[in-house]
Parts: sequence; C-alpha cells; structure tokens
Amino acid sequence: MKILSGMQPSGPLHLGNYLGALRQWVRAQNEDAYYCVVDLHALTLQIAPEELRANTTDLLASYLAAGLDPEVCTIFVQSHVSYHAQLNWLLECVATYGELSRMVAFKEKSERQEGYRVGLLTYPVLMAADILLYESEEVPVGDDQRQHLELTRDIAERFNNRFGPTFQVPVGVQPPVAARVMDLQDPSRKMSKSLASPLGTVYMFDAPVDIEKKIAKAVTDTDGEMRFDWDQKPGLSNLLEIYSSLSGETPEEVAARYSRYGELKSDLAALLIAILAPLRERYEELLASPDDLYKVAARGADKASVLAGSVYRRAAAAMGLT
Ligand code: AMP
Ligand code: TRP
Repeated sequence: MKILSGMQPSGPLHLGNYLGALRQWVRAQNEDAYYCVVDLHALTLQIAPEELRANTTDLLASYLAAGLDPEVCTIFVQSHVSYHAQLNWLLECVATYGELSRMVAFKEKSERQEGYRVGLLTYPVLMAADILLYESEEVPVGDDQRQHLELTRDIAERFNNRFGPTFQVPVGVQPPVAARVMDLQDPSRKMSKSLASPLGTVYMFDAPVDIEKKIAKAVTDTDGEMRFDWDQKPGLSNLLEIYSSLSGETPEEVAARYSRYGELKSDLAALLIAILAPLRERYEELLASPDDLYKVAARGADKASVLAGSVYRRAAAAMGLT
C-alpha cells in the first residue's frame, strides 16, 4: 500500500506531532511509504531563511531519530522534487476559491496575520499535490488535518471526473488515541508549535527534568476523581490518552489502575522519559553529521522523483498540456 505524509520544518517536534503522526509513520514504514519535510509549506510562515534551513536539517534528524529507516522508506525534502510545485499549479486550476476560503486552518491563520499571503489560502492545494503525486492510499496525520484530507479527496475526484481516471483517491488515517494531544496548561486547545505555551508543550527531545516538571504541573481538576471524561475532565483525559497511547492500554484501563493524580503523573513522566530518552540521544548524534542527513534526503528525492514524475506527466497530459 502506498503512504505519504509530511511535516513542516517550523520548529522542534512536540508530543502531539510524535503521538499523532510520526510514531504512526514509523509503524507504517514497511508499506510503500514516502515521508517528506514540507519546506515549501513552511514558507507560508514567513520564516527567516537561516531558520528554515536549520529547521529542515533538524526535522530530518527528528524523523530518523524517531525510527524512520531510509533503507525501508523514502525520506525527502519537498522542494527537492520539483513536481510538487508543478502539480500544485495544475490543481490550483481545479480547486475553487470558495472551498479554500472555507478551510478552518486558513480562517484561523488569516485572522492572526495582517496582509496575509496568497500561499496561506492555497496551502491545502500544495498538500493535495504532495499526496496525489505518490498515488497515496493512506495519509497518516493528526486530527487537525482531517479537513485538508477531505479537500484532497474532493480535488482528486473532481479531476478524475473532468479529465479521466488519473489520481488515487486517498484517505486520512488517525491513531485511535492521541490524535489530538492538548496543551498541558490549557486542555481546551491543542498542543501546538506556533502557539506554544512553555509549560504546556512537551517536546520530543526535552531533557528528562523538563518532561517531569511539565507533566507534574499539568492542569487537571479539583474533585480528585479518576475518570476518563473529556467533557468534565479534559486535563486528566488528555494525560490518560497520552498514557494509553504509550502503554497500549485503553484510557479507561489506565484510569482504573490509579486512584491519585500525582501517582498517574509520575508514572506517565517515567514512561515518557523511558521512550523518549533514547530518541533524544540518537537525535543529537544525527544532528552532529548534517551532511549524512542530506545524503539520505538526496537519495530519497531521486527515488521520489521517479513516481512523482510519472504521475505528474499523466496529470499534465490528461489536462491537455503537450
Ligand atoms: P504540524 O505541527 O502542524 O506541522 O503537524 C505535523 C503533524 O503532527 C500533522 O500530522 C498534525 O496533524 C500532527 N499534529 C500536530 N499537532 C498535533 C496535536 N496536538 N495532536 C496530535 N497530532 C498533532
Ligand atoms: N498540512 C500539514 C500540517 O500542517 C503538513 C503537510 C503538508 C502534509 N503536506 C502534507 C501532511 C501531505 C500530510 C500529507 O501538518
């Protein structure tokens, strides 16, 4: 089965990125899997050039540290494969302004920026190009990407109806728990790179002392009743989901084993540290040899270009380009 997913090089990865997406990628890497660093998407963030470069290197190291193996799956940087930008244009001539302006991510981000760029509106079309170029059947992403995936499906179906069967129509896949990890200080909003709260966000490569501190200070509630209940107990339920996603139990099973919040928190911190500490070590080793990371990316781009090129040419020909 073909699989593609990507992340923006927009800063260090947090627990939401890891549990919601990256760990799912590692589990699926034995399929015909393509994983990219979507640097073109990060340009919508108006990021400084040197920061974008550093973040791209960092994200490559993070992918490998998390367990993606370049001998098994294809790891590459989006801008190294020119077909993404090329197919993007073809799809911009299929997508409508109306559907793009209805995207929740666009509405939220455009409200926060004055004079926002066109790229913020067309962002999901480039994402559709990423996915459709690799004939992806499944796209492992966190819950916040559902709407973008639906749009990708709409664009693919519309294209196929208008120009003949060209694209595989993909589905988005979310993990059963932790598809939406919430901020530890404010469980009403998701853990996020862009709106990071210092104590509310656990980074994948945080030092163990910081992980302990952040989990210990996580906001819960005052009635002290151990119960998995997102409506009444969002802070606690968030911790139970994180725990469950690490231990493989259901959140209810985890809740049944504990009576005190403090105990749950200290065991959760220990579990997180046991899983993340070896990744952190590997991440630091990998970052020490950036040339090796770009060798991996170059091999990945060569391999990705073969499939992407053939799908691009099929789409261009279907539309009448000669
Ligand atoms: P981003 O940080 O927006 O580049 O997201 C990269 C990947 O992580 C996407 O698949 C997101 O859906 C996923 N993701 C981001 N934040 C969270 C979160 N708080 N919980 C679960 N998944 C997330
Ligand atoms: N929009 C995604 C995010 O913010 C990143 C992304 C770009 C992506 N292209 C993709 C995810 C293709 C999956 C497949 O997280």
